[in-house]
Amino acid sequence: MCGIIGCVGRDGETLDVLVHGLSKLEYRGYDSAGVALGGNGVSVTKRSGRIERLRDALEDDPVEGSVGIGHTRWSTHGPPTDANAHPHRDCTGDVAVVHNGIIENYQSIRDELVAAGHDFASDTDTEVVPHLVEAALADGADPESALRQAVDRLEGSFAIAAIVAGTAAVFVARNDSPLVLGLDDDATYLASDVPAFRDYTDRVVYLADGEFARLDADDWTVTDETGQRVQKEVDTVSWDAEETGKSGYDHFMLKEIHEQPRALRQCLRGRVDELSGSVDIEDLGDLSPTGVQFVACGTSYHAALYGAQLYRQAGIPAQTFLASEYATAPPPIGDALVVGVTQSGETADTLSALREARHRGARTLAVTNTVGSTAARECDHTLYIRAGPEIGVAASKTFASQLSALNLLALGTAPVGDAREAIAALRDLPGQVQELLDESRAQEVAQLYQDAGAYFFIGRGHQHPVALEGALKMKEITYKHAEGFAAGELKHGPLALVTENTPVFAMVVGDGEQARKTVGNVKEVEARDAPVVAVTDGQTDVDRYADYVLDVPETHPCASAVLANVQLQLVSYHTAKLLGRSIDKPRNLAKSVTVE
Ligand code: F6R
Repeated sequence: MCGIIGCVGRDGETLDVLVHGLSKLEYRGYDSAGVALGGNGVSVTKRSGRIERLRDALEDDPVEGSVGIGHTRWSTHGPPTDANAHPHRDCTGDVAVVHNGIIENYQSIRDELVAAGHDFASDTDTEVVPHLVEAALADGADPESALRQAVDRLEGSFAIAAIVAGTAAVFVARNDSPLVLGLDDDATYLASDVPAFRDYTDRVVYLADGEFARLDADDWTVTDETGQRVQKEVDTVSWDAEETGKSGYDHFMLKEIHEQPRALRQCLRGRVDELSGSVDIEDLGDLSPTGVQFVACGTSYHAALYGAQLYRQAGIPAQTFLASEYATAPPPIGDALVVGVTQSGETADTLSALREARHRGARTLAVTNTVGSTAARECDHTLYIRAGPEIGVAASKTFASQLSALNLLALGTAPVGDAREAIAALRDLPGQVQELLDESRAQEVAQLYQDAGAYFFIGRGHQHPVALEGALKMKEITYKHAEGFAAGELKHGPLALVTENTPVFAMVVGDGEQARKTVGNVKEVEARDAPVVAVTDGQTDVDRYADYVLDVPETHPCASAVLANVQLQLVSYHTAKLLGRSIDKPRNLAKSVTVE
């Protein structure tokens, strides 16, 4: 999704800071990029396509300024052309604006502005903003009030940053789309996402909906909708700038897969007492839900399916809903808890479902990776998964951390019997993941089956969400058809798709009934000549029917899903690499999906 960077006070370096910030935002997904430099005048350079095109344009025609804003655009209104790229300008060229989100009433405003004589240069909803600012300036408003007056007219979601010729400041407004300020001694920054300026400062201020800010080189102020000054807390980011680099790995995704042991340790740290078997999660209080509804999208939805299983096993009714379908869910009953699982904390579908849940009177909990995110701020409670920044568009380490955090949540809020074994298994998990990463033969599997027509993934119980996640990862980074099924469902239809050209990945762990039944399903596909890759801890005889075995260590049922999933992540990663795909930025996808 779109990204914003801005800075004031880095005289002589403003352009470098902006372009570096844009490159740090690339992971969010984009199809054009641009910058505006201000000071006495305003100059705008923007290009469709990759940031390299913008860099080339800036090398050909360098620009300077003491203040600047930049943007990576992910098209919504109008195709990815130079003209539709941000920043957008007013008729005089003295105002430049970047915007994330969607302005729902832009058409009527645009019609009105065109009738008043304004010329528009793009198809975007954003372009109404600089023209509204222009009109307010012409009426005598100062830049700060001009932006406020413009924003007053807007309906929809937006994070907006504007510069105006003659003023060495950036003016920003936020509604339903994230914006964070970065503070240094003699410079200020703003961005839609901390990595954009993390190389320069770790001191941040998260803006809330309805807030405005003015950034000067050595000062910053935040005001509310009425113009009253708001006292904001300055937070310190807990992760290092290096965490947003590749550290020698070919791709962020591979690096993040390898960061899972650390992420899992961080998730657990200080939250469990192994001796007593108790879980103590900061700030959650005594939740004791009588029922739980999970809402989430994509990978987080798969984690949520797993979370609901944990609650049901503890005897608490729990359901999972795709956040975009939550409108059709039954109202939460009694003391129910609605849990939004969202890595970014900014996914529009999930935020909207959580708001609906609150409207229906439910208590809400965000399980998120992102401190200061909208989900964290809006929900009654927050459980941070503490995975650290995830740059690869495809979620990897955050899925593992979500599963770990959901285990803690269920153990802490719906205790059944002695939790010591489960806690010990969670404690051992980072070491086991490390072992698996060191010894995995996933690359051989990728080599063997890189030409397959499609990939199927099957599992039961906790391995069902893993099968769904394995398929999602495979399709998003290899662009190949992949589907995950509950193993028992295969014979009810999907078996018709199974051929000698469709490898089936079967997750078979433990020696219980579910594992044994899955072995039966493996025999069904083997009889139809499909290659079988068993992801197994060796407690059944599935290896007799498998063409290839990917080992996972034996563990408690609460930890096996994370381990099996790591093998599938590696198979998808190596397949995508062999196929030469854009692994960290798969086509058409964005890291944080802020539109419904
Ligand atoms: C897949 C992936 C997406 C996200 C989904 C929800 O690899 O990353 O499916 O899981 O867009 O995002 P969050 O968790 O930020 O709400």
